[in-house]
Amino acid sequence: MFLHIKEVLTAEEVALFRQQLWAADAPWIDGARSAGGQAVHQKNNRQLAQGSELSAQLQGVVKAALNRNALFFSAALPRRIYNPLFNQYGDDSNFYGNHVDSAVMHSKADNCWVRSDLSCTLFLTPPEDYDGGELVICDAMGEKCIKLPAGDLILYPSSTVHQVSPVTRGHRISSFFWVESMVRGLEQRQLLFDMDMSLLRLRQAHGEKEASVIALSGTYHNLLRMWADV
Ligand code: NI
Repeated sequence: MFLHIKEVLTAEEVALFRQQLWAADAPWIDGARSAGGQAVHQKNNRQLAQGSELSAQLQGVVKAALNRNALFFSAALPRRIYNPLFNQYGDDSNFYGNHVDSAVMHSKADNCWVRSDLSCTLFLTPPEDYDGGELVICDAMGEKCIKLPAGDLILYPSSTVHQVSPVTRGHRISSFFWVESMVRGLEQRQLLFDMDMSLLRLRQAHGEKEASVIALSGTYHNLLRMWADV
């Protein structure tokens, strides 16, 4: 599943991130320190220190934004979210070459393991402020180059090979994180999402009380009951 979710952050939240992450004293460190295995040789960026107060504060803002987003919930059916991290590309630390994200990661904040079913990038820099820095995702259909407005999010399968192309002007700051879904299988999750979107349109067209809408909602929930692990 590839899904672009618009305006996950409000304009005020985008401004808050801008003020905090672009501040001279923001605790940025070498991103390669957090890369494992193959990724360490490919990764040349900076990352906000995870243990910092600023990181904890901004993670809270991202998580609250995800919690109120119905489209994110429907598409990801999140069981666990690996604490959002923040990275910066620019100057000499400006790319992250082709890699696949680790399958399981330990979240210190929540003291649990998270399986990465879906990867997410939440863009925080307006696209006109930098050149390069596309998120390039390879799948069976070829390459997708993604560069979104500040506050928008892309959701994509963690199983894909992907990279961030070199930033040649300005700085690109974003948040990234992984989702373990209640529904592990990609096909089942996609079917549920398609059905939920159709149900939304049916409710708008025929109202909540239409018998077939109620029955189909029941089928959606029964499929979710069959496939979900919580
Ligand atoms: Ni990655």
